[in-house]
Amino acid sequence: MPKSTLTFVCTECGGESLRWAGQCPHCHAWNTLQEFQVRKAAKEAKPRPLQPAKAVALADLAPDDAPRTRLEWGELNRVLGGGIVAGSLVLIGGEPGVGKSTLLMHAAAQVARGGTVLYVSGEESGHQVRMRAQRLGALEPKILLLAENDLETICEAIEHERPRLAIVDSIQTVTDAGLEGSAGSVTQVRESAARLMRLAKEIGVPVFLVGHVTKEGSIAGPRVLEHIVDTVLYLEGDRRQELRLLRATKNRFGSAEEIGVFAMGENGLEEVSDPSAALLASAAQAAPGTVIVSVLEGTRPLLVEVQSLVNSTQNHPLRRVANGLDVNRLHMILAVLERRVRDLSFGNKDVFVSVAGGIRITEPAADLGLALSILSNENNRPMPDGLVVIGELGLSGEVRRVGHLDRRLQEAARHGLTRALIPAGSRAVRPSGLDIVEVRTVAEAIAAAFSSPIRSGEFIREAEVSVS
Ligand code: TYD
Ligand code: MG
Repeated sequence: MPKSTLTFVCTECGGESLRWAGQCPHCHAWNTLQEFQVRKAAKEAKPRPLQPAKAVALADLAPDDAPRTRLEWGELNRVLGGGIVAGSLVLIGGEPGVGKSTLLMHAAAQVARGGTVLYVSGEESGHQVRMRAQRLGALEPKILLLAENDLETICEAIEHERPRLAIVDSIQTVTDAGLEGSAGSVTQVRESAARLMRLAKEIGVPVFLVGHVTKEGSIAGPRVLEHIVDTVLYLEGDRRQELRLLRATKNRFGSAEEIGVFAMGENGLEEVSDPSAALLASAAQAAPGTVIVSVLEGTRPLLVEVQSLVNSTQNHPLRRVANGLDVNRLHMILAVLERRVRDLSFGNKDVFVSVAGGIRITEPAADLGLALSILSNENNRPMPDGLVVIGELGLSGEVRRVGHLDRRLQEAARHGLTRALIPAGSRAVRPSGLDIVEVRTVAEAIAAAFSSPIRSGEFIREAEVSVS
C-alpha cells in the first residue's frame, strides 16, 4: 500500500487544513473538518521522460471536437452544455429523495437506445432499481446493472464494458479497500472520485456520480468533490411539489449558469420546456400580495409568482420568513419601504414572502416586484391582472436597471401578460401587446401599479408625491 499522510478537509467547502480545528479556517463552519489521508503516489518513482515537454501553438489545436452524446431531453442537454462529453466526470448533487436516481434512470434509458449504459447502484438492490426503471418506462435492454460498493470492482466493470455512459449511484457508498475510513468519509469519497476521474479520462467513458447533500458534517458532501469533477449539477426542488430544477454550478464544457426544468409525476420525471407557463398556470389570480416577476436563470427568463403575507402581531421577536429567496434581501426591501412610504411600519408585523413552485430567486431583478407584493398584501389591494414587475431596488428607493430586459419582456408578452413595470432609461425592444411603464423610484412604481390612488394618495410620502 502506498504511504499516506494526514490532512483535514472541510465537508462544507472542501478546503484543506494541516491541523484539525473546531472551525474551518476557510468557510468558518463549525465541526466540519474531517481527517483525510493523502496518498503519496507511487508515481514518484516514475522515470523522467527522455524528451522534454513540448508546448504547441494554441491556434494549431483542433477546435472543440469533444464528441457529445445528445439526450432526448433538451433540458438535460442544455445544462450539460449540449450533451454528454466523452470522458467527463459529472456530479449530480441533491438532497436525499429529491429525484437524483430517477433523473439518472431516465438519462440512462435515453443513452441506452444508442449503446450500453452501466448503472452501478450501491444504495438499492437490483430488484429495487428494476422496479423503478419499469415504472419510468426505462427498462431498456442495454442498461446493465451492477449492485456494488467496491471501487476496484466498479472500475473493472467500467473498463470491461466500456459503456457509453457509466452511472455511480452514489459516490458516498463507494469504498476503496486500500484506504482507511468508512464509506462516505472524506478520504473515501475524494479518492474514489479521483480514481473514477482518471479512468473516465483514460478510456473516454463519461461517468455520472450521484452525491447526497447532507446538512450534518458526518458524511462527506458533494462540496468536497466540486474541485475534482468537470461538471457539477444540483437537483433542487421542494419534495412536496412537482417542479425540479437541475442547476449547473460548474461546467468545464459549457455555461455554468444554465438550468433544466423537470416535473415529478406518477411516472417519474418529465422535462418542462416552458416553465413560465407551468408556473403561471398555478398563479393565484388577483389575490392581494401576489405579483408576477421575471427572473433570469442562465439564459432563460422565467415568469414567477411571488406572494407576501403581512400580519399584525403582538408576539416578539417579529417573524421575517423568506421561502425561495434570501431573507436579507427581504430585510432590505422592508427597510426601503418603511423609509419611502408614509405611515408604513413593519414594527409590529410579521412578514412572510414566498416564491411559487419551489423556485429559488437569486437575482435582485425581483426586488421591485417583492416590494409591491408586500404593499399589496399590507393594503389588501390586489395588483392589476396581467402585470409583470421588473427592477432592482436601490437603498434610496431608486429602481435600478437589470440585464437582458428584452428577453424578460418577450417572455411576458409571449405568455399573454399585458403590462410591465420596468426601470426607467432601459433600452429594450418593446414587444407589441405589452404596455410598458417606466418607473424611476419605488414611489412611482406604487403609483403606477395601484393606479387608482390608495387612500387618496396617502400611500406615497409627501416628499415624493410630486413624482406620482
Ligand atoms: P429518488 O430518485 O429515489 O431520489 P434520490 O435518488 O434523489 O434520493 O426519488 C425519490 C422520490 O421521488 C420519492 O420520494 C418518490 C418520488 N417519485 C415519484 O414521485 N414518482 C416516480 O415515478 C418516482 C420514481 C419517484
Ligand atoms: Mg437515489
